[in-house]
Amino acid sequence: MKIKNVVVVGAGMMGNALAQVFASDPDLNVILKTRTLKEDRWDPIIKNLDIMIARGAATEEEKQRILSSIKFVTDDAEAYTDADFIIECYPEVMEMKQDLFAHIEKFCRNDCILATNTSVMSPTEISEKCEHKERVVGAHFWNPGHLIPLVEVVKSNYTSDEVIEATMALLEKVGKKPILCKKDVPGFVANRLQHALWREAFYMVENGIADPKTVDDACKYGPGLRWPIMGPMENSDLVGIDLTYNIHKYILKHLADNHEPSYLLQDMLSRGDLGMKSGKGWQEWTPEQVEESNRRLREYLIDYTASNKQKQ
Ligand SMILES: NC(=O)c1ccc[n+]([C@@H]2O[C@H](COP(=O)([O-])OP(=O)(O)OC[C@H]3O[C@@H](n4cnc5c(N)ncnc54)[C@H](O)[C@@H]3O)[C@@H](O)[C@H]2O)c1
Repeated sequence: MKIKNVVVVGAGMMGNALAQVFASDPDLNVILKTRTLKEDRWDPIIKNLDIMIARGAATEEEKQRILSSIKFVTDDAEAYTDADFIIECYPEVMEMKQDLFAHIEKFCRNDCILATNTSVMSPTEISEKCEHKERVVGAHFWNPGHLIPLVEVVKSNYTSDEVIEATMALLEKVGKKPILCKKDVPGFVANRLQHALWREAFYMVENGIADPKTVDDACKYGPGLRWPIMGPMENSDLVGIDLTYNIHKYILKHLADNHEPSYLLQDMLSRGDLGMKSGKGWQEWTPEQVEESNRRLREYLIDYTASNKQKQ
């Protein structure tokens, strides 16, 4: 399945980042499908690229090439008729996504792939109103979509192997690291891992084992340093299956296994402590600290992108 024409639907935070990613491949034509053509429609992509250029993760020539290969389109027929691969970055509302795909099917070819960037919703359910359910696949990018390599490709109950293969190949071609989630399960792969860790983190704070900063330090200065190089499966092989078995035999019964959110979350919610956006969550946040935290994460990810680029 040869993919040449890519359409990103919805020019919000993820849609802009994804259009930038696909447009970085000179072989692809990219359409960003929007409701209106605003004067400032290029701004989010230009801003992303300028920050990357300032830290050596992109060049001015790449910026111009990316900008010139993205076409903003409002008309359905113009956007979808020649598309090979359409990815929706619509609001996270099941009915909107189902209706969007059913609507797109009226315009696109029968072999066009329909991908959903949903964070948590079932691609099987999203495809329910489609005539050709085998063409619908999950392609979950992580925010910021232009900087985080991981994309979870999620097989629905209907997705064909051909669609999976073509989607994985396309994502690899544009420099992403696609992984295959073989079953349509809540949280796919990476959020299941992430929230198993968060559940334990909240449990430890709830039970006075460690305070929030200590939990974060335990990750940032300890096992978190290994994770970009060595995942849990490799790490288990490193320490040995015998040791892993003995550790689990002893420790698993002591770990959090709650099926409801921590009561601490409920308490904070009722006080209006919503984290960075309200100035208080697990810790207090000044506007300067919020800015500093966001800046450090962005710079870290951009430097990671730049160093990977140098290695290529
Ligand atoms: N934000 C994240 O961190 C993140 C990460 C991974 C995946 N996602 C998923 O990506 C998708 C988009 O998220 P986002 O953060 O970019 O949202 P967003 O609100 O920034 O963007 C949604 C876009 O859809 C457009 N839209 C809304 N209603 C529309 C309609 N009726 N017709 C046409 N366009 C319409 C909006 O104008 C907006 O441009 C969601 O499914 C979300 O769960 C988000």
